[in-house]
Parts: sequence; C-alpha cells; structure tokens
Amino acid sequence: MKTAITEMFGIEHPIIQGGMHFVGFAEMAAAVSNAGGLGIITGLTQKTPEDLANEIAKCKDMTDKPFGVNITFLPTLNPPDYPAIVKAIIDGGVKAVETAGRNPAQVLPYLKDAGIKVIHKCTSVRHSLKAQDIGCDAVSVDGFECGGHPGEDDVPNMILLPRAADELDIPFVSSGGQADGRSLVASLAMGAQGMNMGTRFIATKEAPVHENVKKAIVAASELDTRLVMRPLRNTERVLTNEAVERLLEKEKALGADLKFEDIVEEVAGVYPRIMMEGDMDAGAWSCGMVAGLIHDIPTCKELIDRIMSEADQIINERLVGFMKGTVNA
Ligand SMILES: Cc1cc2nc3c(=O)[nH]c(=O)nc-3n(C[C@H](O)[C@H](O)[C@H](O)COP(=O)(O)O)c2cc1C
Repeated sequence: MKTAITEMFGIEHPIIQGGMHFVGFAEMAAAVSNAGGLGIITGLTQKTPEDLANEIAKCKDMTDKPFGVNITFLPTLNPPDYPAIVKAIIDGGVKAVETAGRNPAQVLPYLKDAGIKVIHKCTSVRHSLKAQDIGCDAVSVDGFECGGHPGEDDVPNMILLPRAADELDIPFVSSGGQADGRSLVASLAMGAQGMNMGTRFIATKEAPVHENVKKAIVAASELDTRLVMRPLRNTERVLTNEAVERLLEKEKALGADLKFEDIVEEVAGVYPRIMMEGDMDAGAWSCGMVAGLIHDIPTCKELIDRIMSEADQIINERLVGFMKGTVNA
C-alpha cells in the first residue's frame, strides 16, 4: 500500500508504533521497522542523551530500515536536556521524529535543518493546525480512546479524524484504538494516510516488556481502562489495578484540592517496576481501550502482515462487493 505516510517515511506499510515509555527500546522499534512499519524509540526512557545515542546505534545494528525517535514534552519544572536529545538524534542519523505533549516549536528548526521528518502527535484539531502552521510534516491524531494522554476534549476518533481531514493540508495518521485491518481501512476512509498504534504493539513477541504486561493486555476488555489525573488537567488513560483504584479514591476524596504530591506513590517512577519486573499493581500505566480488541501475542511481522491482508480483503472483497452488489451484509 502506498500513501503520503509510506512515501514520507520510506516505509512499506502505513503503520507507525507510537513512542511508549519503557517499551520503546531498540528491540521494539527495530521489530516494527523490520516488519515494514515505522518503529519508534522513546527518547525520554533513556536516562541521558548519551544513553539515547547508544540506543539509536543499537537499533541501527538491528535494522537497516527507517526508524524514528519520540520526543515527549512533559509538563515539568525540571525539563530534560532537549537540545542534547535533539543532537543525539541528528548525530545518530535518525530520519523521523515523533513529537508529543507540548508544541515542538523549540526543537523543530534543528530537526528540519537536519532533514528529519517530524510527525506531531496531538489530541485536537486546533493543536493539529498549530503543528501544521509551525512546519511539522505530518500529524498523529490521537482520539479519546487512546492509551496514554488523550487531552481534555474527549473527542473520539469517529469524529476527530474526519474533522482533521476537513481542516488539515498536511497528511495525518489515526492514533488511539487502532488494532487491525478494520482499523486501518476505517482510518483511511476517514481521511488518514495511515495509523499509529501503541497498546497493540506491546502485546507482541518482540516487545521488550515482562510477560505479565502482555498477558494483562490480552486479558483486559474495553471496559478495563480508567482516566486518572483529570483534576490535574493531565488526564491519562491507564489499565485499572489496585493502585489505580486507590488513586481514583484519592481523587474523589480530595476533589479540587488534589495535588500531584497526593498521588506520587501511584504514578511516579512506576514504569520500570511494571514493564521490567511485571509487578502489575505497582501503579498507573498507560493502556488503551483497544485492549478489548487484542487477543493474542504475535510477532510484529505476523501482526503487520495480518493487518495488511485483512485491509486488502475488506477493501477489495467486502467494500468492492458492496458497491457491485455481489456481497450480502
Ligand atoms: C504504555 C504506554 C506508554 C506510552 N508512553 C508514551 C510516551 O512516553 N510518549 C508519547 O508520546 N506517547 C506515549 N504513549 C502513547 C502512544 O504513543 C500512542 O499514542 C497511544 O498508545 C495510541 O493509543 P492506543 O494505545 O489505543 O494504540 C504511550 C502509550 C502506552 C500504551
């Protein structure tokens, strides 16, 4: 399949693996890229820019296909050393960057000067338009269903994607709730040029996380995520567990008085314990409603090949059949 996104990033299939904290290591990115998608290393999971440079070098040893790096702009008083992170990306010869969180204007000129294609992930039409205005090459439009930070507008992809298509001139991919060939065809039908997946890629053989995490995703249904940190306007969609239910009790009890300090135990520094050690009640970790569509743990290649052949079947048999009147509903 050829779309603006496959051409922009030099990939075979219009499928991107979104940056994921303590998941997006070289092993994950290389597996997705080797399967013909665009794998993404999560920049901020690396402790230092030097570590990121090493992770990029490691990924280059594992694939000769294009891969990207995610730079997330966090609401924090002590920001990471973004200039050094950008330097590691440019020096490492990476050709694609996924930005997320705040508007990436501060790093964009350096990335563009280095010939890097930038796809900004955001959760609203207005932020997508801003990304287009400041010179991003593409946008990843992240609907309310998504794992991670859906923003505060709560617009699901069934509305958000066609709205983005109506407003944007640059290409965009769907993100949030995408899992299979149906997701890809629906995304394309609504104006996207491809799709970005997070949660689905965690439940793959190559994802470098504890087996408990993969099993938890397979066991979960679409009813098992919760929104946390809404009172702090830093909403995150996470898989429910003991820590999440405790956190929600605190949010309920404290109401508008809730401060980050009140929930530090449930959210700060929990990713290594969950992703590496498999301690599934350690705290809140991002997971999408799409868990309800995930029932197996294939390799990235099996997953992407299956998505593409399902998409082919839906477009060329089901949809063409409807048009010709040769397929019954
Ligand atoms: C465990 C996990 C960690 C994530 N960490 C990040 C991150 O550090 N930076 C980022 O931009 N997005 C992050 N995301 C969001 C994903 O890149 C992607 O946008 C999202 O998962 C899409 O929704 P889906 O899970 O329904 O596919 C994370 C998602 C998950 C599930």
